[in-house]
Amino acid sequence: MDEIPRPELFDFHGVSMIKMLTANWENIQNFQARPDDILIATYPKAGTTWVSNILDLLYFGQREKAIPIYERVPFLEVFSPGIGSGTDWADKLPTSPRLIKTHLPVQLVPQSFLEQKCRIVYIARNAKDNVVSFFHFDRMNKSQPEPGDWSSYLQRFKQGKILYGSWYDHVSNWWKKKQTYSNLHYMFFEDMVEDTGREIDKLCSFLGLTPSVEEKTRITGEVHFDKMKKDEMTNYSTVPVMDFKISPFMRKGKVGDWKNHFTVAQNEEFGEDYKTKMKDPTLHFSG
Ligand code: A3P
Repeated sequence: MDEIPRPELFDFHGVSMIKMLTANWENIQNFQARPDDILIATYPKAGTTWVSNILDLLYFGQREKAIPIYERVPFLEVFSPGIGSGTDWADKLPTSPRLIKTHLPVQLVPQSFLEQKCRIVYIARNAKDNVVSFFHFDRMNKSQPEPGDWSSYLQRFKQGKILYGSWYDHVSNWWKKKQTYSNLHYMFFEDMVEDTGREIDKLCSFLGLTPSVEEKTRITGEVHFDKMKKDEMTNYSTVPVMDFKISPFMRKGKVGDWKNHFTVAQNEEFGEDYKTKMKDPTLHFSG
């Protein structure tokens, strides 16, 4: 694979970003959401693809399967000459509701999603597994900033100096948004791992969907990690900037993989720092 220069991070409205995700900013901010649009919002690596696939199957279970997940669920803020812009992809979607993915922190989300009272599904993942997953993703995805070594990456994660800025602010500010914006369903990666069927039930009740028991069982099977890992339409193996020899996109899909990465000292320091940043007792992560 040819070497692609890694993008540099820069400060964008207080959040660390790269050009590929800000170059289309005017169109992103002016994006016209429709009332039935569903926005899937996450800090990267929290289970976006998993929940995107669930929503796609719930709404369009019978449709042509040979469409990669990133086309079925466009990535709002992405822009590159090779792939075009997420806003155009969303506007060209032939079906409704449109399922649209974003990693933007809540304060940067286009206003029209909120004005149109769109349903928003936010997925959060515990910080330690999230940073491990992001580290491996940054290693394998040449369009991401250079991750450096694990220990420096972990430091930068704590400082919010990785792509999309502070995990702590991201999960906390979306959590706070729930208090004033009722059309937000906040869910956790760990709950999905514990009981995918139960979480699909909760999603359905939020979305006002009533699939049959058989349909739900079928979808739960379809979105199992092993199934999605094998499926070219969900495993991102068709994306040339990703080097699966370094690490696959569907890597482990587990809770607690951080234990294979954090040293005892790193875990202690992380825990101390975490307490100073995550003061809201109502936002609780397992894992
Ligand atoms: P790991 O790197 O820990 O394996 P995103 O889609 O937001 O980029 O998140 C990717 C993470 O979600 C990866 O975590 C990936 O393996 C995990 N994941 C994706 N689909 C999954 C599934 N069906 N079951 C469990 N984990 C899944």
